[in-house]
Amino acid sequence: SPSSKQGKVAIVGSGLIGQNWSMIFAGAGYHVTLYDTDMDQLMRAKTSIKSTLEQYERDGYLRGKTTAVQQNALVSTSSSLSECLSDAFYVQECVPENLELKKKVFKEMDTMANKDMILASSSSCLCASMFTEGLTHKSNMLVAHPINPPYFIPLVELVPAPWTNQELVTRVRTLMEEIGQSPITLRRESLGFALNRIQYAAINESWNMYQSGLLSAEDIDRVCHDGLGLRYAFIGPLETMHLNANGIADYCERYAEGAYNVQKETFKPVPVMYDVETAMKVQEEFSQTMPLDKLAERRSWRDKRLAEISKLKKTLEKE
Ligand code: NAI
Repeated sequence: SPSSKQGKVAIVGSGLIGQNWSMIFAGAGYHVTLYDTDMDQLMRAKTSIKSTLEQYERDGYLRGKTTAVQQNALVSTSSSLSECLSDAFYVQECVPENLELKKKVFKEMDTMANKDMILASSSSCLCASMFTEGLTHKSNMLVAHPINPPYFIPLVELVPAPWTNQELVTRVRTLMEEIGQSPITLRRESLGFALNRIQYAAINESWNMYQSGLLSAEDIDRVCHDGLGLRYAFIGPLETMHLNANGIADYCERYAEGAYNVQKETFKPVPVMYDVETAMKVQEEFSQTMPLDKLAERRSWRDKRLAEISKLKKTLEKE
């Protein structure tokens, strides 16, 4: 179609993440072919993509300049992996997070790839070196980790294996920006990538404060959603330091000792596991307002807010 870009994108695995990538690429004008080993799931995914795009259009969340009908028309399905990959310049793998499965799928895709094809994995924990070693096209493979829900949270962590072609990483970064995502590039593999390292630091301190009985679970979460989170939606912890003094060097001069004392006094060693007793206490507290059978409702509530914030951010960034 005249509104579609040159080139086709292959999405391997049609679950939550595969559907999100499909909608993101179609919104940017790319032809998308979606593949799954489970045919019923593939059909459900196709139906869900259509209705979700229509819903986003009604709510004013649809990406791109075309209509939901036009975007949906760019998404096709295939019951064959080689047909899905055929002529694709970019492949986004979205199968379940299981090392043996990723190995199997990448080995299979390797036999269908060519020297120009980019093969990215959505993996949230596994590094590309764990499942691409020894493959013919391993220098074209990397991790491109999205954040749930990727349609509204644009961050994508690009994590190359030691043998990934650096120029290719740059091309993926440009592609991610072009389709409206927000890429970051790790220079080498590191467990947890970047987001989870920051997230675990936040979870650990939240856990420690709750465990010591300092404040309620609700109040701990409020520190983020009515405090730090508002700031972090626009500037990160490092820029916060820069702006809260006359530059970050001045900040360190003024506050580093205080920060060190707080951490020395309060931080605990890395928890082996989050303990069941504390977990049950937090869950009991949450059950007052968010019982387990109401979590789906609460997730929709969350997604609606994420969608609104994402819309607001886009408006503000245009200013
Ligand atoms: P999911 O379970 O919703 O979807 C996985 C899909 O892959 C299923 O439809 C399944 O039928 C299909 N599949 C299984 N074996 C296959 C094969 N050999 N070939 C093709 N398709 C196959 O999983 P989800 O949540 O979409 O996760 C996919 C990947 O994205 C995982 O690596 C996960 O860690 C990562 N991820 C997930 C996030 C999340 O919040 N759910 C966030 C960021 C990344």
